[in-house]
Amino acid sequence: MAKLIYSAIASLDEYVEDKEGKFDWAAPDDEVFAFVNDLERPIGTYLYGRRMYETMVFWETVRTGDDQPAVTRDYAQIWRAAEKIVYSRTRQAPSSERTRIERDFDPAAIRRLKESSARDITVGGAGLAGEAMAAGLVDECHLFLVPVIVGGGKRALPDEVHAQLELLDERRFRSGVVHLRYGLRA
Ligand SMILES: NC(=O)c1ccc[n+]([C@@H]2O[C@H](COP(=O)([O-])OP(=O)(O)OC[C@H]3O[C@@H](n4cnc5c(N)ncnc54)[C@H](OP(=O)(O)O)[C@@H]3O)[C@@H](O)[C@H]2O)c1
Repeated sequence: MAKLIYSAIASLDEYVEDKEGKFDWAAPDDEVFAFVNDLERPIGTYLYGRRMYETMVFWETVRTGDDQPAVTRDYAQIWRAAEKIVYSRTRQAPSSERTRIERDFDPAAIRRLKESSARDITVGGAGLAGEAMAAGLVDECHLFLVPVIVGGGKRALPDEVHAQLELLDERRFRSGVVHLRYGLRA
């Protein structure tokens, strides 16, 4: 059975974008990027809210020539190889391969997907991941905390969800970013 993982890069005050909708402060350096690549390499399917998809679809067409950084080329390859399911009531068609649009986020369908998948699944952005957490579907939460406080914006974690967590791993990076890997207790 596959795990459903919510992974986010957030400010120390736990926002994934600030009040202006910016998240340039979250851009990973090469050390964090290489770690992200290793975490995502085994992922078989990405579940995306439409907003997150519209940010991530950049990876479908990014240049991957030898003049590009190795971490960039690596991530583009990982992203393109994975299946994507995009949740949207407004978007008509995807603009990447291996991608389909779903009009509704159906927890029963996600449970079946977890049961039938050999490879783990991720969910993002924060809005869709919050729905998955509220439905009890998320098995692990990976937070990359960036050493910045932005004072408001879109929260990484949903309101009204209560969960007991178990710290499974942690890692600190030279930039001051900390990665926390938590398991959600059933
Ligand atoms: N911190 C970082 O490193 C980082 C990295 C990348 C991106 N970001 C930013 O973080 C933000 C994440 O945005 P978000 O959490 O607000 O958005 P999100 O969850 O990615 O997308 C929200 C959209 O998903 C669709 N959706 C959600 N629930 C649905 C459901 N039950 N059924 C059908 N469709 C559903 C809706 O699309 P429709 O409106 O089309 O119906 C909704 O407007 C984005 O601005 C992204 O650019 C941050």
